[in-house]
Amino acid sequence: MKPRLSTVLPGGLLLALALTGAAAHDMPMHPGSMPPAASTALPAAPQADGRAEVRFPPELRREVLATMRMHLQGLAEIQQAMSQGRFDDAARVASMTLGMSSMHGDQAEQEARYMPPGMRELGARLHMQTGEFILAAQDATATGDLHKPQMVFGRMMQTCVACHAAYRLQ
Ligand code: HEC
Repeated sequence: MKPRLSTVLPGGLLLALALTGAAAHDMPMHPGSMPPAASTALPAAPQADGRAEVRFPPELRREVLATMRMHLQGLAEIQQAMSQGRFDDAARVASMTLGMSSMHGDQAEQEARYMPPGMRELGARLHMQTGEFILAAQDATATGDLHKPQMVFGRMMQTCVACHAAYRLQ
């Protein structure tokens, strides 16, 4: 069962997605629900692309972006491990690169202080889904059932996409 975007995203975020125009390409929408000037608008300045700007102190910003790059590398390694049936490796990589332990010290607390609530919620969701993925991947080593881990993996990627569509760092 593929979760519909509307069931995984809070309403405000859906609106934010619609405003970026990303939704218009990726989701079936009623024609009337597009922002009216979307197609005729002048090229937007980089800071005026509809994403909410979030200000982190420079040091934290660097840490967060490094964690992000590790997340992406984690997804790539997980995908490869799954395609080769190495579900125990997939679970281990998920825990190292996407779980709470992928952040060092009090990074999570620091981030939470500066994030707007919707962004915090998406961050928490990613970590919850990672926990779910780890369990599903561990189960798959015994059952050989690929479906569950693949489904949860897809949802994790939707969470990456949702946050990137709604927020940017200053
Ligand atoms: C809670 C919000 C959130 C989630 C969830 C999230 N990201 Fe990000 N990510 C951001 C923000 C904000 C930026 C900065 C974007 C900008 O300023 O344009 C970013 C930037 C990045 C970058 C660029 C790093 C750089 O060096 O510039 C990568 C790669 C990335 N994210 C990967 C991921 C992946 C993969 C996932 C999911 C596993 C993910 N992110 C989940 C918020 C999030």
